[in-house]
Amino acid sequence: MKKIIAFAGSNSKKSINKELVIYASGLQQEAEVSILDLNNYPLPMYGVDEEMENGIPENAAKFLEKIKEADGIVISLAEHNGNFTVAFKNIIDWMSRIEQKVWHNKPLLLLSTSPGARGGASAMEIAKNGFPHIGANVIANFSLPKFYDNFKNGSVVNEEFNQKIKEAVTTFLKAV
Ligand SMILES: Cc1cc2nc3c(=O)[nH]c(=O)nc-3n(C[C@H](O)[C@H](O)[C@H](O)COP(=O)(O)O)c2cc1C
Repeated sequence: MKKIIAFAGSNSKKSINKELVIYASGLQQEAEVSILDLNNYPLPMYGVDEEMENGIPENAAKFLEKIKEADGIVISLAEHNGNFTVAFKNIIDWMSRIEQKVWHNKPLLLLSTSPGARGGASAMEIAKNGFPHIGANVIANFSLPKFYDNFKNGSVVNEEFNQKIKEAVTTFLKAV
């Protein structure tokens, strides 16, 4: 069975993106999914001085290992001020100090959501444009707008959006 890792680009304990990633992962039974949480990989803020003085933390290597072992990756991006959250950018920066192509050419399904009407579309654009430079093979993407209107009791309740996320998962799985 193929192995997928799925996680939110957020360190919020109540992350709505983690809820979305869990929902998306549960839409299929073809692959075995491990849900990861950035909170289980705490890291100091990346800085060249920090790296010089204390080296690359073990947790960056551990997360990179999870990526390398996976056949596919599902990420739901949280958006802070039109960009990635600090926690997500931080782990990418640390991993890139071990290997620059952090995504290892793995098939990637990119999701995002936020309470706002754009559903994290700015963070999504940054990922779509930037991730291929660090080894990403982005297969499909979907942004869910207005999370609290469109997602209830663990599921996407808007039929149009539900169809779109299902299509994105199906497309992704074909590439895994
Ligand atoms: C510092 C900060 C900046 C934010 N900026 C944005 C933003 O630019 N766009 C947006 O749609 N939501 C923004 N939000 C709201 C987040 O989308 C919301 O907190 C969401 O729950 C974050 O996802 P998460 O729960 O998975 O961490 C911001 C929230 C915070 C705390």
